[in-house]
Amino acid sequence: MSSELARLFEAARAARDRAYAPYSAFQVGSALRDEHDRVHAGCNVENAAYPVGTCAEAGAIAAMVATGGRAIREILVLGPGPGLVTPCGACRQRIREFASPDVLVHVADFDGIRASFTLGTLLPDSFGPENLVHDA
Ligand code: THU
Repeated sequence: MSSELARLFEAARAARDRAYAPYSAFQVGSALRDEHDRVHAGCNVENAAYPVGTCAEAGAIAAMVATGGRAIREILVLGPGPGLVTPCGACRQRIREFASPDVLVHVADFDGIRASFTLGTLLPDSFGPENLVHDA
């Protein structure tokens, strides 16, 4: 694992340890590297009103935006097996807002990286900010 990826892995693992998931008992952490090479992490935060809960990726993205970051260069999601914890559909779109199709999305468990995808693979032919630039 490259040192940059190891940084993301450790940040996601630390955030995951603090996840608030009393309803699903499925704790997830995420970490991303922005265009300033800063790392931002988040965890899932569930709610007694179930649909109000937020995913780990949403937390990491909010932390990036709040500190001035505007581009995701690489992102990692860490959660328990046996299935791969790939970002949910809504989070793929959240990532898309700040990432190009070639950005890598790494999926990890506690032992390390299990798979890596490009965002374009996870969300092909996507709709993004460029679509809103049009002639009236
Ligand atoms: N979850 C995430 O935080 N990220 C993902 O990529 C998949 C799912 C959370 C949402 C919910 O709190 C729990 O995992 C179970 O779905």
